[in-house]
Amino acid sequence: MKKHIIKLVPVAAAVLLLTACGRKPDEPGRIYMPDMTYSNAYETYSVSEDIKTPEGNNMSARKPAPNTIPYGYIPNDSNVRRNPAYLMSYMIKNHYTHDAAKWQEEFDRAGKEIKDPLAYSEENLAEGKRLYNIQCTPCHGEKGEGNGQLVELPGGGDGPFTSRPPAYKTRLPQVTDGNIFYVVSYGKNMMGGYGFQLSVKERWEVIHYIKSLAGITGDATGAKEEAPAKKKG
Ligand code: HEC
Repeated sequence: MKKHIIKLVPVAAAVLLLTACGRKPDEPGRIYMPDMTYSNAYETYSVSEDIKTPEGNNMSARKPAPNTIPYGYIPNDSNVRRNPAYLMSYMIKNHYTHDAAKWQEEFDRAGKEIKDPLAYSEENLAEGKRLYNIQCTPCHGEKGEGNGQLVELPGGGDGPFTSRPPAYKTRLPQVTDGNIFYVVSYGKNMMGGYGFQLSVKERWEVIHYIKSLAGITGDATGAKEEAPAKKKG
């Protein structure tokens, strides 16, 4: 008896396969799980009696809190526009043009204009290390040598990520704090930006930490400039 059932399995599978595809390629054929084929997702802000909300408006999405502004929006107010955040948003706009020449221009400009505003402290460094270990080690490696597990497998073979980051010890002495801030915020080539994952303070904390990995204790000023007296404390 068992044998007969086993023999029937391929037949049943073949029948299923044949009946699943109709002759018309544009039609889905027989549907066995309709709730997966036809999604019941609601349009944003659509109204349905099935949706129960505390406001009682039966809307599929909650309205933003009063005075909410879109991320990156700069009101036309000269006080706001004189704020350093304006410069940042300007750069976001230019970065997302994906124009290599523009990227370079903004990288150079950030390198000259953006200074490290964060004082050195044990807490900032510890927080930078914590964030670095979460966000950056997969590519840059624990010590910033550019050999994270996505780049180099623990056994020594090539990892799945095709671009090898430079070792911080080699690269960071060639750039300024502003350059580093620009790259951490907006990315560079194969590296994505962290402007949306890390707040400005968090980015500077991470930068303090990667500079410590590179053995830089004060401002990163780039190889071309004379290094000023080291800032400590
Ligand atoms: C997905 C892999 C990946 C992750 C994650 C990553 N990076 Fe990178 N990073 C790269 C690559 C690749 C480069 C080399 C880019 C180039 O020069 O083309 C790079 C370059 C850099 C540079 C050198 C920039 C320069 O001007 O040469 C800095 C600084 C840097 N990364 C910081 C960070 C920090 C800080 C984090 C975490 C917040 C991070 N990266 C996360 C892949 C990554």
